[in-house]
Order: sequence, then structure tokens, then C-alpha cells
Amino acid sequence: MSLVNLTEAFKYAENTGGAIGAFNVSSWEMIAAIAIASEEAEFPVVIQAQWPFLKHAGPLRVAQYVSDITKGAKIPTVLQLDHSKNWEPVMECLRAGFTSVMIDASHLPFAENIKVVAEVVKVAHAMGVTVESELGKVAGREDDVVVNEADATFTDPDEAATFIQKTGIDALAVSVGTVHGAYKGEPLLDFERLGKINDKVNIPLVLHGASGVPENALQRAIGLGVLKVNFSTDLKDAWILSMKKAVSTPGFEPLDCVKMSQDQIRQVVNSKIDILRKAFKEELNAN
Ligand code: 13P
Repeated sequence: MSLVNLTEAFKYAENTGGAIGAFNVSSWEMIAAIAIASEEAEFPVVIQAQWPFLKHAGPLRVAQYVSDITKGAKIPTVLQLDHSKNWEPVMECLRAGFTSVMIDASHLPFAENIKVVAEVVKVAHAMGVTVESELGKVAGREDDVVVNEADATFTDPDEAATFIQKTGIDALAVSVGTVHGAYKGEPLLDFERLGKINDKVNIPLVLHGASGVPENALQRAIGLGVLKVNFSTDLKDAWILSMKKAVSTPGFEPLDCVKMSQDQIRQVVNSKIDILRKAFKEELNAN
């Protein structure tokens, strides 16, 4: 099955049941591991990357690789640019054949944020590419995106409705208490706010900073309109741990190291897909 945009993947997931996991990559083997897990689980995924990896690997090469390894797959895959603050990465990814982009102009004042995002939507939609954007600011660090705790702000439900209406985005990333990177304590999500946002808007919501968020909190969020859940830190941690383990094994070969790390990522992705899919099924059963 060829690459699809977010809206197509959401339709697929809604028909079979489940919220979609979006997994950040920083190596070719991570990409392969995610694609293998998706096929094993028979469930779509979003393979996504931030600009530092794409700049290193080349957006066109990444798009060609993902397209090659997912060719003939039964399950659709989305290839998305994650968190771009400006046009250059967006244009490069659109040209390369990415099926979705995230423009994050949440650092700008509301009116300017709308203007930038609406322009990206116009260009991307003309190419059949979906657009995710963020309102409010999720705290923490995600590659080159850094938001200090003091600068983090939660999404306002009324502003969210206006933002979507004026920009035409396809998915809204919300700030409701999750953070990018490791949590200092127990993650505390503002479910009341999430419920209010869900009542006001009519497009799928995206939960960033999902690494380290307990299963029951993810399931609750999915019941409140979250259809895309972003994971990065859990994958990076698994990758680094297995690399460390491999290099400390006497007589290790670099290939063993790569294989072990790839397998570790495959297992993490499979376990996340299980949680996301189960959450949706439980939600259906409860109704
Ligand atoms: P974590 O690194 O906290 O999993 O966040 C991932 C993310 O939101 C990517 O945009």
C-alpha cells in the first residue's frame, strides 16, 4: 500500500479501531523497525522526523526509502515532517513527497500564527498533503525545539476552534500537560481542558510528549478526541540502551549492534500500537 496522508490514515484507523502512533526517527534502522512493526501489528503508523535528522539524511532519500520499504504493504503509512517552525523544511518535504507536515508557529502571536499556518495549508492541500499544527506550547525538548517550563502554555478551547476555522488544518496538536522528553514526576494531564477542546473542534487531536505517559492516561485522552499520539523519547532511550548493551558484549560486531537496536525499536513500537488500539476498542465497548 502506498504512502497516505493523515486524513486517509485516520479513516483506516477509525474503520478498524484505534488511534495512530506517530514515531520519531533519527536513523534509517529506526525507520525500518517502525515499518516492520506496523506490518506485524497490521495497523497504520506515522513515521515522522524533525528537521535535524532530515537535513542529515536528506528528505528526498528518506521519502524514497520509506516509499520503497512500504511498497506492497497491506497497511498504509504516513510520512510526516514533525515540528517545523519555518518554510524551508516544509517546502523541502513537500517537494520530496512527504504525505503530511507539521508547521509549528506556536511561538508567534495568535494572528501571525494563523497567517503562517494558513499559507502552509494552502500550498500543502494543493499537493494532497495534510497539515498538523499546534496551539499552546508543549514544554520540554524535542531535538531542536525547546520550550522552557515557564514559557509553556495550555491550549485554549475557544482559540482552538477559531484557529482551525481560519487555518483549515487537518489535525490539532494540543498542550494539556504532556511534555516533550523525560518527565520529572507523574505526568498530569488536564482532561477537563481536553474534553472542552474536543467539544469545540471537529478535527482529530494530537497528543505530543506521550513517552512516559501511563497507559490509562493515554486511553482516557483517546476517548476525548486524540487520534494521533506522538512518541520519541521512549524510542531514543530503547535505542541507546540496546546500543550500550551491544557494545559492552565481548567481541561485538557493529551489525549485531544495529540489529539489536532495530529489534528493540520494533518491540517498543509494537507495544505502543497495542495500547493505542486497545484504548479505542475499550471505548467502543463502553458505548
Ligand atoms: P516524547 O519525546 O516526549 O515522546 O514526545 C514526542 C513528540 O511529541 C514528538 O513531536
